[in-house]
Amino acid sequence: MKVYITRKLPEIAEKHLKANKLDVSSFKYDRAISKKELIKNAKDADALITLLSDKIDKEIIDNLPKCKVIANYAVGYNNIDTVYAKSKNIVVTNTPDILTDSTADLAMAILLTCSRRIIEGETYVRAGKFDGWKPNLLLGYEFRNKTFGIIGAGRIGQATAVRAKAFGMKIIYYNRSQKENFEKEQNAKKVSLNQLLKTSDFISVHLPLTPQTFHLLNKENLKLLKKNAIIINTARGEVVDENELIKLLKTNKIYAAGFDVYENEPAINKELLKLKNVLVLPHIGSATIEARNAMAKLVADNVISVLKHKKGVTPV
Ligand code: DGY
Repeated sequence: MKVYITRKLPEIAEKHLKANKLDVSSFKYDRAISKKELIKNAKDADALITLLSDKIDKEIIDNLPKCKVIANYAVGYNNIDTVYAKSKNIVVTNTPDILTDSTADLAMAILLTCSRRIIEGETYVRAGKFDGWKPNLLLGYEFRNKTFGIIGAGRIGQATAVRAKAFGMKIIYYNRSQKENFEKEQNAKKVSLNQLLKTSDFISVHLPLTPQTFHLLNKENLKLLKKNAIIINTARGEVVDENELIKLLKTNKIYAAGFDVYENEPAINKELLKLKNVLVLPHIGSATIEARNAMAKLVADNVISVLKHKKGVTPV
């Protein structure tokens, strides 16, 4: 049976698939595959391995007559029309859990970078401006006793809160359901979204993108943020109305923002790049060797499991 991969992955994926006697091919260029190329190259595939940047819509699914599984190399799967795939008896899988720690680590790194003005400091030294210690050079905010607001207390949100707690922060969260164990273990308190935005010093977004979470943070509620607030997003750009957030950053209505994801990814709003109180990263939440290898293994396990047993290991 044939497996098509839309971009080269860590080699463990192909090795594992081939060891299970599958006929594997992948897109041979180091760039995102186009829709036309995907349809042409994957037309006789029994399994498709996709990236979060591949938009798998009805047209693509209709052109995959033999496909039994679409295994997404990501925990988020908003790039796939899962309802339509299901209607065609295609199993869709993702890669949960194994990228939780790497993404939570990055969230804290972004937060520290923003609160302690690390990029400004680095740029300053490289520009040859450092001429000795100064009492008020690049003052930022420390973590202890700050309120950390988690928007979306799933696996990654909770793991980020554990780190924030270790830094001495008080944890509040906004989530549809109550997370009792999380509350007990981290002394976390569930609050409304508005309450969280009004009272948090640091806010970290960890919601998946769905029609309900699109622009959940918008013109009205972003105005509630405190003047010293730092907001970071390692989830999906579209959860936050980027233009409204930029307005607040431009007029220093909040302290800073850290972005690993963007509303129109991979395009980046030029205004963001002009702002000093903004940190911009290229969607590297899961970019650790450990996570990416584990994701490659899991994506292959999912394909093998569906092709052999008609059931994914981590179906969505
Ligand atoms: C995901 O997996 O959804 C992340 O955004 C990228 O690894």
